Amino acid sequence: MKQQILSASILNCDFSKMGEEVHTAEAAGVDWFHLDIMDGHFVPNISIGPDIVVIIRKLTKLPLDTHLMISNPDDFIERFAEAGADKISVHVENNANIHKTLLNIQKLNKKAGIVVNPGTPVEMIYPLLHMVEFVLMLTVNPGFGGQKFLSEVLLKIATLSNKIQELGLDVGIEVDGGIDERTIPITREAGANIFVAGSSIYRNTLGIEAAVKRLKSV
Ligand code: DX5
Ligand code: ZN
Repeated sequence: MKQQILSASILNCDFSKMGEEVHTAEAAGVDWFHLDIMDGHFVPNISIGPDIVVIIRKLTKLPLDTHLMISNPDDFIERFAEAGADKISVHVENNANIHKTLLNIQKLNKKAGIVVNPGTPVEMIYPLLHMVEFVLMLTVNPGFGGQKFLSEVLLKIATLSNKIQELGLDVGIEVDGGIDERTIPITREAGANIFVAGSSIYRNTLGIEAAVKRLKSV
């Protein structure tokens, strides 16, 4: 079985006490932090930019899994790399030069990921699989935390998992959107091994520490 990774999405954390929110999740055992970067063009919301990534970099040594939901990602990859991102993932949609974008990430010695929206056929990324550490299969439409998991993506995850095995590649499958104790087992069953959790950590009535431990145990 592939290594199981829990990546905490800080999009829905309490930004007025971000240091504490990061430290508590790290102490409880998360493996990565997932940073959602939104520009108000590619998605209908604006979140954080490279200056905030610099601050988060100072708060933790865990890998920063940086999910770019921005138009023209090539213009900003270097800024995010310098800010301290370890993994940079970019969408396949609306990027005619995605192959070059992935090369640019590799040139900066960062791990590349490729992101597939729920409405995008997964076959589109087959020519790029050899270039990435993981494929991020979005299980909600991008833009906001707290949305309902889209179960129709499960079939695409299973199709991708089979393709990766058939090609004999070492590529992870990350799932993002509505991931909680109910959806971790079903996405794992389909082939996912990297689980992004936002609301189920930071908006959980159990509190951050108990929420992380629960998610790691399912
Ligand atoms: C959606 C983001 C997700 C989001 C997940 O555009 O890519 O990372 O933060 O949040 P939850 O876990 O609340 O669905
Ligand atoms: Zn994300």
